[in-house]
Amino acid sequence: SRDSRSIAKTGTSLLDSSQRTPPTRNISNACQKNLSAVKISGFRSLSAEIQDFLYYRHCRHFPTLLDLPDKCGGADESKEIFLLLVIKSSPVNYDRREVLRKTWAKERLHNGVWIRRIFISGTMGDGYEKERLNKLLELEQKEHNDILQWDFKESFFNLTLKQILFLDWMETNCHYVRFLLNGDDDVFANTDNMVEYLQGLKDNNGSTHLFTGHLISYASPVRWSGSKYFIPVQVHKPNSYPPYCGGGGFLMSLYTALVIQKMSQVTTIVPIDDVYMGMCLAKAKLAPAAHMGIKTLGWYIPSKTLDKYDPCYFKELLLIHRFLPAHMYVMWHRIHDPSLKCGTSKKTAMSFGW
Ligand SMILES: *[C@@H]1O[C@H](CO)[C@@H](O)[C@H](O)[C@H]1NC(C)=O
Ligand SMILES: *[C@@H]1O[C@H](CO)[C@@H](O)[C@H](O)[C@H]1NC(C)=O
Ligand SMILES: *[C@@H]1O[C@H](CO)[C@@H](O)[C@H](O)[C@H]1NC(C)=O
Ligand SMILES: *[C@@H]1O[C@H](CO)[C@@H](O)[C@H](O)[C@H]1NC(C)=O
Repeated sequence: SRDSRSIAKTGTSLLDSSQRTPPTRNISNACQKNLSAVKISGFRSLSAEIQDFLYYRHCRHFPTLLDLPDKCGGADESKEIFLLLVIKSSPVNYDRREVLRKTWAKERLHNGVWIRRIFISGTMGDGYEKERLNKLLELEQKEHNDILQWDFKESFFNLTLKQILFLDWMETNCHYVRFLLNGDDDVFANTDNMVEYLQGLKDNNGSTHLFTGHLISYASPVRWSGSKYFIPVQVHKPNSYPPYCGGGGFLMSLYTALVIQKMSQVTTIVPIDDVYMGMCLAKAKLAPAAHMGIKTLGWYIPSKTLDKYDPCYFKELLLIHRFLPAHMYVMWHRIHDPSLKCGTSKKTAMSFGW
């Protein structure tokens, strides 16, 4: 060990003090693996991924890699955000973020109120790959100032963690917001319509309960181990889920977001993030509601002869899952085309060459 110390010392002396960087990982601060998890009955029969989840389930604090201290209540006109778009995005999804910035998630004034955007992200890969992807987000941050990133591994089982980290961040950094859209980066959201819908709400300026989306009631955990959504009893014992809204996209008031944040402090993490939000709501005795314009399970087109990308259909919706970036870009422009005529006549089901 003496040898390695002297090598390290020589290495350091080659750098002038301005190039010296402090150690980036605080080992003593890192969340410890819960070794008692092995005592859970049937632990050894579970997949490595679920075992990993149980070992680290209690970990809720991770270092912030990219922050947005001025996003809410900053010195510029962003002080009052009417609708904050909070979009879950993995580091690799560069093309999705780029098209969203140009389309429905563009930061802008609509109907006299501000729409702002935040992408929330963890890390991916190891070693050079992780570094490269972190660098990508860093470059995007310099140009767009719209990324919150924490140093935890992105995975299906860590989606709830991402959600909690965002709510905690919001609780300390972001109170000048009325409403939030929380969603995925592969949905098409008609954010103009959302603002108009929210502005039309009587008696709610964000200070009372609102949680609406594609409502799912009477769902229960998938107990078949071959499914992507498999949740064994060791992870969630009850055979039912409370009502919740599909995680592709839902709207909530600041009031409700803060209530969920508070409840999340005393709610054990379950890996499915939208179910977890439902659990936090249930704990606060608040109900999620259905919105007919939010379709997170995809769409149904009545006839094969109709174009499934008919802009007239999307003009009326609030949100729909799922869209490829190229379709997103074209659709956003189609629904804003002043010459677009929508009605009941056959002519309006225009051919749209995809
Ligand atoms: C590292 O963690 C310890 C223990 O939590 C804390 O006291 C210390 O301030 C941390 N250091 C840095 C550089 O974050
Ligand atoms: C560790 O896991 C055991 C078994 O599930 C559990 O009883 C205990 O509360 C966990 N500890 C922490 C710190 O979460
Ligand atoms: C969640 O992230 C943490 C921190 O990076 C990691 O240790 C853990 O393995 C991840 N959990 C899962 C189930 O991927
Ligand atoms: C929102 O409405 C409540 C109750 O009507 C009112 O007390 C509050 O001042 C309003 N908040 C803002 C930011 O306008």
